[in-house]
Amino acid sequence: MKKILVATEKPFAKAAVESIRQIIEKSGCEMALLENYTLKSDLLQAVKDADAIIIRSDIVDKDVIEAAGKLKIVVRAGAGYDNIDLESATKSGVVAMNTPGQNSNAVAELAIGMMVYAARNLFNGTSGSELRGKKLGLHAFGYVGKAVATIAKGFGMDIYAFDPFVDKAVIEAEGIKCLASAEELYSTCQYVSLHMPANAQTKKSINYDLLSRMPKGATLVNTARKEVVDEESLEKMFTDRVDFKYVSDVEPDRKAALMESFSGRFYTTPKKIGAQTSEANNNAGIAAAKQIIAFFESGDKTFQVNK
Ligand code: 3PG
Repeated sequence: MKKILVATEKPFAKAAVESIRQIIEKSGCEMALLENYTLKSDLLQAVKDADAIIIRSDIVDKDVIEAAGKLKIVVRAGAGYDNIDLESATKSGVVAMNTPGQNSNAVAELAIGMMVYAARNLFNGTSGSELRGKKLGLHAFGYVGKAVATIAKGFGMDIYAFDPFVDKAVIEAEGIKCLASAEELYSTCQYVSLHMPANAQTKKSINYDLLSRMPKGATLVNTARKEVVDEESLEKMFTDRVDFKYVSDVEPDRKAALMESFSGRFYTTPKKIGAQTSEANNNAGIAAAKQIIAFFESGDKTFQVNK
């Protein structure tokens, strides 16, 4: 009997775990659960006899892959797979997948909520501003960027996007203005929301050159990855521009220093909560379980990311 390990340092909602269990057991596999773990050694122990693993932001590095002698597939229940060492997975013949789009609405709702929070001065009671009529720049236009655009339209925002990997026609079909460069996006938009993955090209790419172009009342929203923002630039931007706000769902390394100096203009959630809704847990968790079963039953590799 194949063993599918659900290893989530940040657990899914209980109902989602039960749905995942039902899918796994119905297909004749066995489910093992490792939740709330804090030690890597616990994960290394748990993966030993696993044929498949479902993870969230859990780190699946070379050690984990090597400790998992029977592993055939790892599915990241979510979008970003920067937490998986793809090279090690490929070397060990392990298929890595994600579940694109499954948690995007949850993240998009949080991004908009954070914009409101910033516009209302972090709910401190002083007179804030509205989102209606403001220019919103979507930096990357994948599932989350698109979902943010859908909600932002309801707020009456004026929406722009820049994504070098998405056709202009796809962006314009959504009624969104497509810009040709990141520089243009930051020069145009008071609100910029980040939706790119963390990779060699994007890490530290949100720098002072881009940020300092933003118009008065600049607000940067990060529900993507902390690594894409250059933190020295962030600090300089806070210092140079008293109008600048940064609201983030991914804790910066310099969180303590930023909190101390710029607490009125900086907010970060204590844990990455963008995808932490029962709906998103269900969607992503169930998709991950189904993808594993389809892979075992018919070799389906539709969502493989280490090709
Ligand atoms: C993702 O990449 O899907 C999101 O960042 C959500 O991550 P999480 O599953 O760790 O909450």
